[in-house]
Amino acid sequence: MELLEAIGTRRSIRFFKPWEEVEDWKIQRMLQAARYASCQGNCGSTEAIVIDKRTYPKEKFEQIIECASTFNEQQLRQAPITIAWCINMDAWYKELVESFSVLFPARAVTAAYGWTYKILTETTYPRLMSFPKDRAEDLLRIEAGQAIAHALLAATELGLGACLLATGRKPVEFPQILGVPENVVPIWLMAVGYAAESPGQRPRKRFDKLFHYNEYGTPLQEDAEVKEQLKEEHMIQPMAPHPGRDEELKHLCKMFGLDEGMPDMPKEKIKELYKEDSIYYGEVPEGLEDKGV
Ligand SMILES: Cc1cc2nc3c(=O)[nH]c(=O)nc-3n(C[C@H](O)[C@H](O)[C@H](O)COP(=O)(O)O)c2cc1C
Repeated sequence: MELLEAIGTRRSIRFFKPWEEVEDWKIQRMLQAARYASCQGNCGSTEAIVIDKRTYPKEKFEQIIECASTFNEQQLRQAPITIAWCINMDAWYKELVESFSVLFPARAVTAAYGWTYKILTETTYPRLMSFPKDRAEDLLRIEAGQAIAHALLAATELGLGACLLATGRKPVEFPQILGVPENVVPIWLMAVGYAAESPGQRPRKRFDKLFHYNEYGTPLQEDAEVKEQLKEEHMIQPMAPHPGRDEELKHLCKMFGLDEGMPDMPKEKIKELYKEDSIYYGEVPEGLEDKGV
């Protein structure tokens, strides 16, 4: 799959086929993709625990489920693999000089940019080490985001579905249940498996509301020709809901023994989303007119 198509095809999957195992080599490819993501000073602080239902103790997995936000429980129950993404703070406070210094023999940085080993060890390193933990953690979370995004795209390319899942219910207990040391901060769970649903591409905020030209507040206009090309390259795909989505959801919910009701959002509130100055649509996606919106 081409990169742009993978970007367009990736979506958060919330119904998985519990009966279809994920090949080990596919998980390996996802993790390798994460490992090759960009990171500050070659820091490599993003780590992951691959939790495999085939071998993970059932009772312990139940404890993990109890940490996840309630709306994430089903995905965890259905997906054969859960990846717990973590940040290793030692990568910053203990290993950064070593991680950075490999860039010298690799000839990734040279004195031409002002980088010398002396500057690194005598100026940069002490400055970075003086950062308080929350600041360093913020920086490493950005790095983790990049690694996770790589893994998600690799999963898409491999025909897998995945979804990031928050663990807000028991934030204190969560690291203990995972059994990580003090210096490791678990940040997000990810369910991985084969998708049982095809949810369609979610609406995105309008281009001209997100991007600015020269000055903040001067909208950068969306280029219609580029948009058309991206449609041809399957990066921009028909916006959800696709025809038959309600039926798909109803059947899936029935199969998994879940509530078959559709979201209870009032029609008037839905209409507001399509107003001309809406940050989202500015156009009515196909399929919604049928619902009287
Ligand atoms: C950092 C992060 C955390 C997320 N947490 C959750 C979550 O806890 N539960 C969930 O169902 N989806 C979660 N998502 C998925 C988003 O809801 C989803 O990406 C967004 O609605 C856009 O849909 P798409 O991923 O299908 O394009 C998370 C996504 C990100 C990037």
